[in-house]
Amino acid sequence: MPAIIVVGGQWGDEGKGRVVDLIARKAHVVARYSAGNNAGHTVINEFGETRLHLVPAGIFYPDKVCVIGNGVVIDPKVLLEEIHELRSRGVSVERLHVSSRCHIIMPWHPIIDRLDEELRGKAAIGTTARGVGPCFADKVARAGIRMGDLIDPEAFRERLSFVLPYKNAFLEKLYGAEPLSFEEVYSTYTEYGAEIAPFVTETAELVQDALERGEMVLLEGAQGGLLDLDAGTYEYVTSSVPSSLAAGAGIGIGIGPTQISKVVGVCKVYQTRVGNGPMPTELLGEEGDLLRERGQEYGTTTGRPRRCGWFDAVAGRYIARLNGMTSVALTRLDILDQYPIIKVCTAYRLDGTTTKIFPSSARTLLRAEPIYEELPGWQKDTRQVRAFEDLPAQAKSYVQRIQELLGCPIDLVSVGPEREHAIIIRPII
Ligand code: IMP
Ligand code: MG
Repeated sequence: MPAIIVVGGQWGDEGKGRVVDLIARKAHVVARYSAGNNAGHTVINEFGETRLHLVPAGIFYPDKVCVIGNGVVIDPKVLLEEIHELRSRGVSVERLHVSSRCHIIMPWHPIIDRLDEELRGKAAIGTTARGVGPCFADKVARAGIRMGDLIDPEAFRERLSFVLPYKNAFLEKLYGAEPLSFEEVYSTYTEYGAEIAPFVTETAELVQDALERGEMVLLEGAQGGLLDLDAGTYEYVTSSVPSSLAAGAGIGIGIGPTQISKVVGVCKVYQTRVGNGPMPTELLGEEGDLLRERGQEYGTTTGRPRRCGWFDAVAGRYIARLNGMTSVALTRLDILDQYPIIKVCTAYRLDGTTTKIFPSSARTLLRAEPIYEELPGWQKDTRQVRAFEDLPAQAKSYVQRIQELLGCPIDLVSVGPEREHAIIIRPII
């Protein structure tokens, strides 16, 4: 059975974790293929409310194999904290496997992340300051340390002997910061390595074998297409290599495109963004505050208030097509329950013309004014609804209109945070 990918259709925080948790029950393997602990999933189930930054949300199912693929960067301290937390809640982590090719977030990466943002001043990106961007930059610059190095004390010593003086030169000469001590870093990180070592394996082999046995592999993306390094609102994007688009999944896990059969895009019924950069449908002032409060839109990783606005179908269709989405999971319909009028952006007014093409430049996008279509709200509680036909007529029209604008079938609508708060229109798998 081929692999299925779940990707974010907006600027992240679409509810991917929740969608993965819901459809993971039919998968054998659940894997992450990109990004790092800048991502955050909140999963609410019988184990309580858990925030996961690295471990795939499939870990809550006792029979799922969970994989952190080679495309993910790992902060070993964060990974161990998650493993400890899961164990303390009685969740078994025996089925977690981590690629030996994952790059490691080393202690200089968060320092550089922060100092680099300072250096950028007004042009700061508004990163999560977890060191993810600098770690990917070092991966590309061939100055990274990989999981395979970390768990082998001799290889680690050799690698750190080159990398640390090299990075210290940046810290001291470029940023005017204190250098890091070799012995401190070496001893702390060899301990992390020893504790993580039992989880490390050739994950690509593991996933390929599962596919050969006809098992279903679910690949969970991080962030969303609008934050992608190539497709997103550059330079206000995340640095993940491979991309957070579906096309990155094969590279980040170690399978070819012929092995992938479905791409599920997750979109919220409204738009949010954390960090800087253009967002045409952003609601400022009271309107934005109201949506933020109704949706409790605060970052899982940093706790920052998210910027909130109406659904942007120009951006949505752009990302749906770049991912080759075969189906959409629409989340958080219930958050719009009380609105008398709901707006959807169907085009941009840009320099005197109307366009449905998402501009490639962040500076151009800043000038784009949303053109809205107004739809009547339903002003009824939808949280208890479990069948599409039982939704209020206006809610059905809203969902159908978004489907039309995205050009992709909506197979699932979520109406609340818990596993059962979902309307399955067509089974995704
Ligand atoms: P970085 O990934 O920490 O370098 O941050 C780059 C940009 O991506 C910033 O605007 C972050 O707020 C945003 N970002 C990174 N990860 C996430 C996420 O999981 N959800 C939402 N935004 C994110
Ligand atoms: Mg998130």
